[in-house]
Order: sequence, then structure tokens, then C-alpha cells
Amino acid sequence: MLVNEVLTALALRPGGLYVDATFGRGGHSARILAALAERGRLIAIDRDPAAIAAGRARFAHEPRLQLVHGEFAELAQLVRAQVAGARCNGVLFDFGVASPQLDDATRGFSFSHDGPLDMRMDATRGQPVSAWLADASLDEIHHVIAGLGEERFAGRIAAAIVRARASSPLTGTAALAALVAQCVRTREPGKHPATRTFQALRMFINDELRQIQSGLAQALELLADGGRLVAISFHSLEDRLVKEFIRSHSEIDPVLARLPVLPPLLAPPPLRRIGRKQRPGADEIAANPRARSAVLRVAEKRAPHAGGGSPSAA
Ligand SMILES: C[S@@+](CC[C@H](N)C(=O)[O-])C[C@H]1O[C@@H](n2cnc3c(N)ncnc32)[C@H](O)[C@@H]1O
Repeated sequence: MLVNEVLTALALRPGGLYVDATFGRGGHSARILAALAERGRLIAIDRDPAAIAAGRARFAHEPRLQLVHGEFAELAQLVRAQVAGARCNGVLFDFGVASPQLDDATRGFSFSHDGPLDMRMDATRGQPVSAWLADASLDEIHHVIAGLGEERFAGRIAAAIVRARASSPLTGTAALAALVAQCVRTREPGKHPATRTFQALRMFINDELRQIQSGLAQALELLADGGRLVAISFHSLEDRLVKEFIRSHSEIDPVLARLPVLPPLLAPPPLRRIGRKQRPGADEIAANPRARSAVLRVAEKRAPHAGGGSPSAA
């Protein structure tokens, strides 16, 4: 998704060190590798063991690629385990789930194909959604569906889940989708009524927003001067975190920015925002309707001696 835009945003140096923090099926990684010279290097990470296995098969003869199973909340440690003292020329994030995860009913992400109510991107850690729903309080369920799904019928849905589980545990995606559909009174065009609830449960069970906050902070720590941070979000809550991260690391504190002369020892902000947010073009959306919610943001790590930040909003 947004592949050409990502390559431009990374401003690839043929001999550079890059990190693809969300390997998926390697769409972006393949294009990065094609642009790198023999001495270039790419470390690609995914928390889904199936993504790493598929990547190892696809790129078996690619010595410039290191595939690593892990979460980008541990980005710095994962990258430094591959390259001691790594200074990266670019770090790419493409948040959310990959199509093979959505398409495989046994992973439990799908409301259209019945499967076990799991939704973990990495089933070797944590608990499936079914186990959480069996124990969580009405308030907790309500809070997750309202907060992460921005679902106005969250109260009804939470109450229906608590009522249903009293007679039999909720273990399948189809049963949950049917239950939610009975509670959602208005239909959003082109959306299954359970879309918001499934999205909320997925984001919660995979701790996605905390992963993003932590991953962005570690990417900044890993970047070399002039290195690029490139992030694609699918959800407004994800994009808000990226936007705020770039804003807060590229602008001078508004109180200081109002001073007539900046204190000489004031360190410049560590990032410089590159351009405005980008969205896929009409052709890409026509070819892949999922692309319609994608937003790309880019920033560059400043050299410590580079000039001060912009006081304007990101
Ligand atoms: C949208 S897909 C990436 C697609 C990829 N850019 C491509 O071109 O094929 C997101 C991928 O990131 C992985 N992922 C999501 N959150 C993660 C995290 N916190 N740490 C590591 N991988 C994560 C998912 O398992 C999924 O494979």
C-alpha cells in the first residue's frame, strides 16, 4: 500500500540500514530490497510467526534481509540484537492487520467466516478474545468497545455479551458477529455492523496503541541523523498517535517559541516533519478498497546542531 510514496518518503540510500517494523507478506520489504545495493541491509520484524515463516520461504536467498519475530514495542532491542549499535537510515511502520490474517478464519479476525474468537497476531503470547470476554466486567467490555471502536451502541453490545455468556461461552466469531448485529441499530454504508466491535477487540487484545507509542519512541532512538521515520495508519486513533508524536518532537515548546530570542543552549527538536499527510490515489483505492483509510506521515531525524523547529501545527 502506498508503496511508491513509502519509497520516496524513505529517501533510500543504496548502502543504508533500514527497518521494516511490520513485514506482513513483505510487499514493502521487497521494494526496499530492490532499491538497496549489495552493501545495503534491511531488518524486517513481525509479531506474527506465520508472516516470518512466509518471509523466510520467500526471501530464502536474500543475504541483505534479516527477518525477526517480535513486537515493535521492543524495536530497539530487536534491531540491536541484529546490528550492535545500529543507526538506521529509515524505519517503516505499516500498522494494523495483514490481509492473510483477515482471510484465514482460524485466526479469529473475521466476522464473515466463522472461526475461533482469538484475534491475536501472535498466538504464542497473551490470551484470545474469547478468554478475555469470559472474565471481563460489563464496564471493561463497554469501555473497550466504546473507546477503541468508537461504537455508539457499545453499552447495548456489552450488556448482550454479558447476558449471552451466562448461558454459554462466546467462542466463535460468527456467534459474536450475530450478537453484535442485533444491538447495532444503524447501518454504516459498506460496513458490517460488527466492524467497530471486532476492530476494538482486536486493538485491545493486541495492545496496539501502546505498541505504536513505544515503537515510535524507539524508532526515533534508532535513527541516524537524516534518517526517515515513515508510518502508515489505517485508523484515526493510530494516526492521532503518529501525528502527535511527530508534532511533539518537531516543534519547540510553545511557551519557549513565544520568547523573542531562544535560549542559546536550547536543543532543537529531534525531528523535522516532511510534507503533509498523504493518502492513496483513486487508482490505488479502486484496486484495493482497504487502502481508502490509509494515511502516510513522514519525519526526518535532525542532526543535533541543525536549526530550531517550526512553531506551526503539524
Ligand atoms: C498492514 S500489515 C503490513 C503489510 C506489509 N507492509 C506488506 O507490504 O506486506 C501489518 C503487519 O504488522 C504486523 N504487526 C502489527 N502490529 C505489530 C507489532 N506491534 N509488532 C510487530 N508486528 C506487528 C502484523 O502482524 C502484520 O503482519
